[in-house]
Amino acid sequence: MNGRNVVLGVTGSIAAYKAVALASALVKAGALVDVVMTGAAQRFVTPLSFQAITHRPVVTDLWAGGEDLEIGHVTLGRRADVVVIAPATADTIARLAHGLAGDALGTTVLATDAPIIVAPAMEPRMWSNAATVANVAILRQRGILVLEPDVGRLASGYKGRGRMPEPDAIFDVVSGVLARGVSLRGRIVVVTAGGTREPIDPVRFIGNHSSGKMGIALAEAARDRGASVILVHGALSVQVPAGVDARPVGTTREMADAIHAAVEGADALIMAAAPADFRVARAADQKIKRGAGSMSLELVANPDILASLASWPGVKIGFAAETTDLIANARSKVAAKRVHMIVANDVTAEGSGFGADTNEVAFIFADGRVEPRPLETKRAVADAILDVVASALQQPVEPSTP
Ligand code: PMT
Repeated sequence: MNGRNVVLGVTGSIAAYKAVALASALVKAGALVDVVMTGAAQRFVTPLSFQAITHRPVVTDLWAGGEDLEIGHVTLGRRADVVVIAPATADTIARLAHGLAGDALGTTVLATDAPIIVAPAMEPRMWSNAATVANVAILRQRGILVLEPDVGRLASGYKGRGRMPEPDAIFDVVSGVLARGVSLRGRIVVVTAGGTREPIDPVRFIGNHSSGKMGIALAEAARDRGASVILVHGALSVQVPAGVDARPVGTTREMADAIHAAVEGADALIMAAAPADFRVARAADQKIKRGAGSMSLELVANPDILASLASWPGVKIGFAAETTDLIANARSKVAAKRVHMIVANDVTAEGSGFGADTNEVAFIFADGRVEPRPLETKRAVADAILDVVASALQQPVEPSTP
């Protein structure tokens, strides 16, 4: 971030104190941080706190220095490489949605062409209020990256979604946007991760070894490129990243329903999850006893989620977890599932597949091209997949016909 211009907008929430930690992390990383505070923000934290950390004047009033400063505020927005508003109150989000420019922050935002990142903080009911939902949708449509707030205990004592994402998570988003640009700005990307679980009885299930690491890497990478990310996930052994809209599910049929809802209006779907292909025909209501020592289960096929989205017009990327004939098997899935690309994954290779931090894959495109990749981190695989998604969204590729 050395020498990059970051404008940090701070608005009137108790989470404003966390913005001091964010400013500090940005300064330590070499960014030139200009803080713009609303009047309400100054009731929680003093401008002096930010000035002491950034060694730069803090902008608090559109009119403070007469006409010259007003022009200065336009300059601030114009020279910004990124604008981050953290915390952003419901009131600020509404003002941004309506393009109001009655204060220094509104003026700065309207005057910038830089990527804008918004980290909301508010009471859960305010976040889920229809007015806020509509305002957030407007901002996202305009390409503003609105991070999903965290779930947890709020200052009021209520629990729910509304906490500002932690400063280190916002820092990661800012640094990702500065490093890689915002090739997915304004796009909605649905990512799936983890394994589904099919109940046998109330205490047992059929599952698989997916840790969710591959899907989580994809969700983070898409978020860092400016996409709004919906993460539909089964069981995970890693944490859900900050700023994404996480939708947990249990079974494959629940995952199918959640994906069908999520892809409405979305631009891309990347299926890294491992949904169980079969479920128990009749799961028991009570715990099954050991009994005579053997038992059999009747299994029935679950829906093929990717194949069921054949007519969905977005960019579809599937994975293929294979143990033999990697390329041939993965190729057949390109056609069967009507996707733009299959990421062929030899899950028996050393350091690859389930649970590993690294992965060795080959990209199989709908036009027949095969692009083998080296063993690399799951984040590197994710970035390469998102390069494909970004270019497919610019020049839509026809999915293969069955
Ligand atoms: O989670 P990790 O520990 O990081 O491991 C990563 C991974 C090995 C799970 C991941 O890289 C991977 O390969 N995911 C796909 C697993 C899988 O279900 O593969 P498949 O070949 O059975 O399915 C092919 C594609 O169809 C997949 O995109 C899958 O998500 C999808 N599918 C599968 C079953 C089903 N009923 N509906 C589907 O849409």
